[in-house]
Amino acid sequence: MGSGSALPDRVVTNAELAQTIDTSDEWIVERTGIRQRHIAGEDETTSTLAIAAARAAIADAGIEAESIGLIILATATPDNTFPATATKVQDALGCNGCVAFDVHAVCSGFLYALATADSLLRTGMAKRALVIGAETFSRILDWEDRTTCVLFGDGAGAVVLEAANGGNDGAGILASRLHADGAQHDLLYVDGGPSTTQTVGHLRMKGREVFRHAVVNLASVLNEVLEDAGVSAGDIDWVVPHQANQRILDATAKKLGIPAEKVIVTVDRHANTSAASVPLAFDTARRDGRIKPGDLVMFEAMGGGFTWGASLVRV
Ligand code: UT7
Repeated sequence: MGSGSALPDRVVTNAELAQTIDTSDEWIVERTGIRQRHIAGEDETTSTLAIAAARAAIADAGIEAESIGLIILATATPDNTFPATATKVQDALGCNGCVAFDVHAVCSGFLYALATADSLLRTGMAKRALVIGAETFSRILDWEDRTTCVLFGDGAGAVVLEAANGGNDGAGILASRLHADGAQHDLLYVDGGPSTTQTVGHLRMKGREVFRHAVVNLASVLNEVLEDAGVSAGDIDWVVPHQANQRILDATAKKLGIPAEKVIVTVDRHANTSAASVPLAFDTARRDGRIKPGDLVMFEAMGGGFTWGASLVRV
């Protein structure tokens, strides 16, 4: 397995946001744990961030880009309505001809992409997969809505997966579970799109209600995955959660009885980067030496749709 990530150059602090909207560093830190976020500049897009993260993951895995047979990119903020941003990444990497497509499950996108890649590798569709989460949520935020614009940031993360063929020392995806509930559409959505308004639209969220659902849904899907894999919460070395809110991370860990020291936290620096948040946090913790080969790592996320899911991975 290899991993990589990329963040826009520009860092925007809470204090900077407080200059243009009615908010404060104190409110944002207390309610969310967020201290800063990276925001894409004019020359940065979802694909440029995805390509940088992918190159870093390929270098980390020590492979040639041409050997990749499958690219799945999770995003809700593609460069264009079509074609898939995955095809732009493919062309930049020079692995033209392989399978390449986007998945759209908002903040759970990386979990959906990972489980899909795992399934396709198991069928023999490809031997090596590049799974990316990449977003530029800054482009769909209503910068006058203080209840949402302070929560999100831009970035990308990527992992390289390989079909096991028995020679992987037990490494790989041990179990995954995905869910969706379209009845919750109005709690978190974008108020525009090609087939409705012919505009990109802006993110709208009823935060308090999303929060309530997140803690319940995440605890339940984590238990499902633990049961599928036949392991207990105490066996997990690291939890790499979707980075939406420090309070959700704390509440979910508490519900499962997982100590806070085992939860990877990047929400303070990256804010909520939607589909990019899990692979960004994973890469951060691998590169700083916390997550090591052989560790048992739980990924989890919940987002618009609603969608939610979890995967247990032996690194
Ligand atoms: O990635 C997808 C999943 N998304 C999430 O998981 C987000 C889940 N939700 C949350 O993280 C939290 O609900 C929020 C951080 C969005 C909000 O925190 P909260 O503790 O639920 O606050 P609230 O929405 O109940 O708002 C409390 C107060 C309100 O004022 P009143 O009505 O009590 O007078 C808001 O108007 O805080 C006010 N407020 C703000 N004040 C300063 C809302 N946003 C801000 C702000 N700065 N940026």
